[in-house]
Amino acid sequence: MSSNSLVSISDITRDEILGLLERARYFEENPNSKILDGRVVATLFFEPSTRTRLSFETAVNRLGGRIIGFSDANSTSTSKGETLKDTIKMVANYVDLIVMRHHLEGAARYATEVTDVPIINAGDGANQHPSQTMLDLYSIYKTQGKLSDLTITMVGDLKYGRTVHSLLMALQYFNPTFNFIASKELQMPEEYKQFCREKGIKFTETTDFSEDVINRSDIIYMTRVQRERFTDIMEYERVKNLYTLHNSMLDNSKPTLKILHPLPRVNEIDRDVDDNPKAYYFEQARNGLFARQAIITRALGIDPLAK
Ligand code: CP
Repeated sequence: MSSNSLVSISDITRDEILGLLERARYFEENPNSKILDGRVVATLFFEPSTRTRLSFETAVNRLGGRIIGFSDANSTSTSKGETLKDTIKMVANYVDLIVMRHHLEGAARYATEVTDVPIINAGDGANQHPSQTMLDLYSIYKTQGKLSDLTITMVGDLKYGRTVHSLLMALQYFNPTFNFIASKELQMPEEYKQFCREKGIKFTETTDFSEDVINRSDIIYMTRVQRERFTDIMEYERVKNLYTLHNSMLDNSKPTLKILHPLPRVNEIDRDVDDNPKAYYFEQARNGLFARQAIITRALGIDPLAK
């Protein structure tokens, strides 16, 4: 296994997180260079994606590297029965880095066990999405001027939403206060609440998305109900539209509040929020380019800041 892999946000330290944010800032100021000249990166997406795949690929292109890969596993030999192990071993013959998304929790970790080529987890089931976390942290830092001592309200599908699981773990270093707002069916899993207890992280948990909690928040992190993770579609139908943020709900919120969402959204944020200066989700997605340039260069052992 390559130590340059990024499978879980818990693979990296507080200092490494801060180093990646510094790199992301560098790449925002210097998005184009040839520092990946001669390097080939594979993007293997066994699950659909718009932002993650395209921003990883844009990141490689802007740094002068090359991309191979697929966005539909049905067009590959997986459809003929090739195993994940064999697929990873084959692709590792051709490239310097593999970025992969898979519906199975643990798939990226497994991939690190069958190759020495670094693996970046671009989302594994309901488990982790560490590159999303880096762009989320970068977005929080840019908008709040700090990462520490913030009140962060997570709303929606906290059970299957891998982005909130990764973000919660990363914020352990920065003394957050969390508000978890979800229906009974989609609450934050016990393992993450236990993680908070063990780390001394303050959190509240409620089904009520009240003005009071909105007005106390520095960040509201909305999430989509992950239809693709439900085994019972009737249960999905019951819970899919329980939480929608409307512009009028922000009237008495902090002037510095920002609304984040990993996207895609369905009905969680009314379009009437989009023109509110507190809406930050499209800029957040843009920050993904710089955060992923930082992650890719770390994985390849290239330091853009070295003189
Ligand atoms: N945020 C995110 O992972 O978006 P995509 O599914 O479009 O990659």
